[in-house]
Amino acid sequence: MKVLIVGGGAREHALVRSAKSAGHAVHCAPGNAGIARDAATHTIKVDDLDGLEALCERERFDLVVVGPEAPLVAGLADRLRARGVLVFGPGRDGAQLEGSKAFAKEFMARHGVVTAGFRVFDDADEACAWARAEGRPFVVKADGLAAGKGVVVAADVDETVAAIRSMMVDRAFGAAGARVLLEERLRGPEVSLHVLCDGERFAVLGVAQDHKRVGDGDTGPNTGGMGAYGPVPAFDEALMAQALATIVEPTVRGLAADKLAFRGVLFIGLMIHDGAPYALEYNVRFGDPECAVLAARARGDLFASLVDVAKGSLDPAKVVRFEGAAIAVVVASERYPADPVTGDVIEGLEDAAAVEGVDVLHAGTRERDGRIVTAGGRVLAITARGDDLRDAKDRAYRAVEKLAIRGAHYRRDIAWRALST
Ligand code: AMP
Ligand code: GLY
Repeated sequence: MKVLIVGGGAREHALVRSAKSAGHAVHCAPGNAGIARDAATHTIKVDDLDGLEALCERERFDLVVVGPEAPLVAGLADRLRARGVLVFGPGRDGAQLEGSKAFAKEFMARHGVVTAGFRVFDDADEACAWARAEGRPFVVKADGLAAGKGVVVAADVDETVAAIRSMMVDRAFGAAGARVLLEERLRGPEVSLHVLCDGERFAVLGVAQDHKRVGDGDTGPNTGGMGAYGPVPAFDEALMAQALATIVEPTVRGLAADKLAFRGVLFIGLMIHDGAPYALEYNVRFGDPECAVLAARARGDLFASLVDVAKGSLDPAKVVRFEGAAIAVVVASERYPADPVTGDVIEGLEDAAAVEGVDVLHAGTRERDGRIVTAGGRVLAITARGDDLRDAKDRAYRAVEKLAIRGAHYRRDIAWRALST
């Protein structure tokens, strides 16, 4: 197949590598410096829907896989499908599951998906008055897309009220905060469950666990994700069976009942609260860096499944199998996430890639005068496969240690929840 991957992070680099190793002809828009060595890249941004549409018209791809959520929420998949292009990724309707938290929670409530209790508010004074009357803290969420930042887990009522005001009155996340949700706080470990769905049928791809805080021991501010691993031993067969029955099956039935024609991957953020899985959120695309972990564990051609999903003819019995373990360690720029410094030269890329079982996946990188330099907060996702998590972890960190980037930092404890016992 001739495939186009839309996006330019480690998730897209993982997809590019996976397509390339299965023998497909791979294009990517816009890509990054690492992707440019594995695929034909096109300098078209992910929000340039006209440009992407024109590219597809010209290049006649057999399959387009959309990496990030923003173009899906903006309706890229609908526009391409209207031109007869086969697309992996939901249309604007289905993408609302990620684009609007109120839409997602109302969908969950309507279809009996297990999730935290919530209320939706369009008025700041009403939201504050209700929070004060309840007299306990809530999780405050901006309804719209806020690049993963629109959630405040408040510690007390004053913090709840402050978060509501910052989102609804000061518009800290712009229009995304015109509407807010107040949610019951749950407590427990989180996992990223990935499920392929063609609108009617589904197939579980697996789970990975992300590390959202910037520092070791889950300290410091939230980030886009500092590393991931899979499988997740704590998420055992019993929890998976429960998640299927109480979350995944009602979700897929709901997608079909609401005629959302969801053709893509549902990444359901789960929290294990009091021993039971709860759906925290839906994402309508692969997690980043979770995708790197899933792709590293796939045995067979993931794209054969993606194309079946895009056609609406997913056969769960034919989906690729996942084996072994994998870990992705994100290397981030100086001052990420607050104010990442860019433009620093990255040394040691070849030595890192030479470690057996390792893929050096690029995120925020670009080429300058023949050298690769940092160009974003998350720079690389060093991904290693292994027989088990310990083996994968050893390889990943051996590779990370070959790198030299001024001011860069990474977590040294990826997979600690699985390996500390
Ligand atoms: P979300 O974007 O909805 O996944 O929220 C981002 C993060 O906020 C999650 O990964 C959780 O760590 C936290 N979070 C969201 N909802 C809740 C909740 N109801 N209770 C506790 N923590 C939450
Ligand atoms: N790693 C979390 C996300 O992709 O949203």
